[in-house]
Amino acid sequence: MGRLYNNRFNSFAALLFLAAFLFAACAPNPRAQLISPDMVPEVKGQAFVPPTPTPIPDINNLTEEEIYAGLPADVAALLPGDPAHGEQLATSAGCVGCHRLDDSNTVVAPTWSNVASTSITRVPGESPALYFYQSITEPNAFVVDGYNGGVMPQTYADTLSAQDIVDLMSYLLTQGAQ
Ligand code: HEC
Repeated sequence: MGRLYNNRFNSFAALLFLAAFLFAACAPNPRAQLISPDMVPEVKGQAFVPPTPTPIPDINNLTEEEIYAGLPADVAALLPGDPAHGEQLATSAGCVGCHRLDDSNTVVAPTWSNVASTSITRVPGESPALYFYQSITEPNAFVVDGYNGGVMPQTYADTLSAQDIVDLMSYLLTQGAQ
C-alpha cells in the first residue's frame, strides 16, 4: 500500500519536474535582442544616425552683454556686485535651506550646481542676470518645471536691499559649468 502511494508520488513529481522544465525551455531568452539590427531604418542606403542631443549651454560661452542684457537701469547701476557677499547672504537669507549646491537633493528646490548655465534655458529671451533678478524678486513669475509656485518666499524684494539682490545674482552667476 505504502509502496503504491510512493510510486504515484514519484510519477507525480516527475511530471511536475517535466512541466517546470518545459515551461523554462519556452521562456524567452532574456539575452535575445528585442530589436533586430535589420530593423534600423536606412535612409537612401545610409545607416541611420540618431539626432545629435542639444548641447548643455555653458555660461562661459556668453559675452558680458549677453549675461546682463535686459536688467532695469537702476539694477544695472549696482553691477558688478559682490559674489562673496552673495554667498554669505545665501546662508543668512535661508536660500541654501532649500537650494543645494550639488545634486544631492533636488526635491524641495532646483539645485544650484550649474544654475548659471541652466538659467540660459529657462525663459527664452531672458538673460541669466535678468532671470536671477526676477527669480529672487518675483519667484512666481516663472516656475521651474517639476516644482510648485508659492514655495519660495515672495518677500525677498522687501527684506533684502537692491544691492543684496545684485550680490546674490552675481554669486549665482559663478555657479556655472567650469
Ligand atoms: C522655502 C524654500 C526656498 C527658499 C528659502 C528659497 N527658494 Fe529659490 N526656489 C524654491 C523653489 C521651490 C523653486 C522652484 C519654483 C520656482 O521657480 O519658483 C525656486 C527657484 C529659484 C530659482 C530658479 C532656479 C532655476 O533652476 O531656474 C532661483 C535662482 C532661486 N530660487 C533663488 C533663490 C535665492 C537667491 C534664495 C534666497 C534669497 C532662495 N531662492 C530661497 C524654493 C526656495
